[in-house]
Amino acid sequence: MSVFPPGKLALPELWAMKRRGEKIVMVTAYDAPGARFAEDAGVDVILVGDTAAMVVLGHEGTTVPVTMDEMLFLTRTVARAARRPVVIGDMPFGSYQVSDEDALRNAIRFVKEAGADAVKLEGAGPSLSRVRAIVEAGIPVMGHVGLTPQSATMLGGFKTQGKTADAAQALVAGAVALEEAGCFSVVLEAIPSPVAAEVTNRLSVPTIGIGAGPDCDGQVLVYHDLLGLTEGHLPRFVKRYANLSREIRDAIEAYAADVRTGTFPDEEHSYAMDEEERERFELAEKVQPDE
Ligand code: KIV
Repeated sequence: MSVFPPGKLALPELWAMKRRGEKIVMVTAYDAPGARFAEDAGVDVILVGDTAAMVVLGHEGTTVPVTMDEMLFLTRTVARAARRPVVIGDMPFGSYQVSDEDALRNAIRFVKEAGADAVKLEGAGPSLSRVRAIVEAGIPVMGHVGLTPQSATMLGGFKTQGKTADAAQALVAGAVALEEAGCFSVVLEAIPSPVAAEVTNRLSVPTIGIGAGPDCDGQVLVYHDLLGLTEGHLPRFVKRYANLSREIRDAIEAYAADVRTGTFPDEEHSYAMDEEERERFELAEKVQPDE
């Protein structure tokens, strides 16, 4: 009996895609409809990102406040709906910084309680022993270097990383160390394209870029950004493929106007009643027993 969910994309297939030079498509999602849309579009990997803090939960300009319980809830909704794509739960700030034990306990919750296939955590350095602890327990880990939003304050804001030769070398070393620690893939966020190209060359596991140029093995965008659901400033690396916030506003405005003018609901959207039953009903209403 196979215990692997039928139809699920296996991680070695992602490695094979890198070897074949086939791009890996990753997108974030935070609920079941989003997961279904992504799956139907043929997406390979769905990240339930801690960007949920901003794009779903309404926190402004920071991913830090989202909690383990919130991430588990969102991940569960995605994992329930996604069949083929690999579902990755993003470990929120505070869920892995304290100790290897804490990191492992929380990674296990993602897999066991939320149905994630893997977890992602940010940074190299202190995160390396967390990666080792989680991978040793049999849970696949995706790394994340470059702009790591959970430490944006330390990095001086949401800024491009690895712009100097020294910083670029440190970044390459961090990514290599993450692969050595056991990561099955590494996200490269907001770094110059040549640095991402070098990391991609040096690693045998796939790199997934966001603001890291065209040479990564795959790309990821935040669902709300690519669909035009995010309002306000967008980073340079975001490409919008739709303007859904305009469509949603237009649709709700049209609905409100129809309600106010009595145009909705019309006959088409209402339930009729058998004529005979209606007459009996109206008669019964007229002749109230106690009257
Ligand atoms: O949380 C997230 O959505 C991410 C991606 C931007 C890679 O980490």
